[in-house]
Amino acid sequence: MSVSKKIVILPGDGIGKEVTAEGKNVLDKIALAFEHSFTYDTAIIGHDAIEATGDALPDETLNKLKNCDAILFGAVGHPKYDNNPTLKVRPEQGLLKMRKELGLYANLRPIKLFDELLGASSIRPEILKGSDILFFRELTGDVYFGDRGRTNDGNTAFDSMIYHRYEVERIAHKAFQAARTRKKKVTSVDKANVLESSRLWRETVNEIAKAYPDVQLEHQFVDAAAMKLIQNPRSFDVVVTGNLFGDILTDEASQIAGSMGMLASASVGDKVGLYEPIHGSAHDITGKGIANPLASILSAALLLDISFGLKQESETIIAAVEAVLRQGYRTVDIAEKLTPKEMVLNTRSMGIKVCENIGPAGKTALKPVGTEASVV
Ligand code: IPM
Ligand code: MG
Repeated sequence: MSVSKKIVILPGDGIGKEVTAEGKNVLDKIALAFEHSFTYDTAIIGHDAIEATGDALPDETLNKLKNCDAILFGAVGHPKYDNNPTLKVRPEQGLLKMRKELGLYANLRPIKLFDELLGASSIRPEILKGSDILFFRELTGDVYFGDRGRTNDGNTAFDSMIYHRYEVERIAHKAFQAARTRKKKVTSVDKANVLESSRLWRETVNEIAKAYPDVQLEHQFVDAAAMKLIQNPRSFDVVVTGNLFGDILTDEASQIAGSMGMLASASVGDKVGLYEPIHGSAHDITGKGIANPLASILSAALLLDISFGLKQESETIIAAVEAVLRQGYRTVDIAEKLTPKEMVLNTRSMGIKVCENIGPAGKTALKPVGTEASVV
């Protein structure tokens, strides 16, 4: 059955623009191949939005986001702010406000390792092989949104780590439900040996677990979890954790997938869903056209699956990415020493390669806009 959907493209800053362009091209290719109709709107956020309006998340952007079926987001950030933490208006505020305003409390970060990239990680292949972890990072609570401040003399600062029971309950439900469709194991990560908010977290997860007797639950302290993630990544199935621990652990876990450039994420709540690579704006490579677009493309796959229920279309994208990797094509971040130079593609060419591998036989291939595939 063909669907008609409205998607907002929110490129943001840095390589966000370059990679979302490829995510969108892949969505277009899917629409053509499966006869869906996707219409797009674009909006500004982050540094660009601050420059244009003084606000990292202008009302006009928020209105567009509240009135669409799904959002494909890039990244926010700019070195200007990284080098000067005292600047009051910051790109990250746009991201945090967007998460809060849209009620995106569950951040799904699948750590999927493509077999073809086994050698791209700094972790040994025999430890990695078969790893498949799904993180549920709580996204609208914790130190990110608790009270913070500084004393008048400037010498003392605090950020409150705060959780309400309902916040833990709703993310725990999502994690247990997902585990039912996988290996039926949930690892809840906290620091309950020290933190009161973690004790509430653990107590609540234990309560919710009673409704899922078919799912095995284990608890780990965050320090131990950080170690076990790279010691034995295969021992994890679904991981549920708070906002700060989830932020840190998923960057660490990205190394299991070879590169941050491969990892997609979905942020969902009760309304619209937002899909984004977990990598940031990467200003060191911005404008060079070499960013890996696969995380954005895989985010588009998550979008189709989760927001539109288009499972087959989503799997078609993942299969196309697998095919391109199997054919030996790489972007520079996932290339290995022995990867022939001509197989190392730029952003545009990688997007084109994925599009070429999409579509039921007999359908006309969409000619992607831009130049022919070329190497970096
Ligand atoms: C992420 C990022 C953000 C976060 C930053 C950009 C505010 O690191 O989405 O993981 O800390 O949540
Ligand atoms: Mg992060």
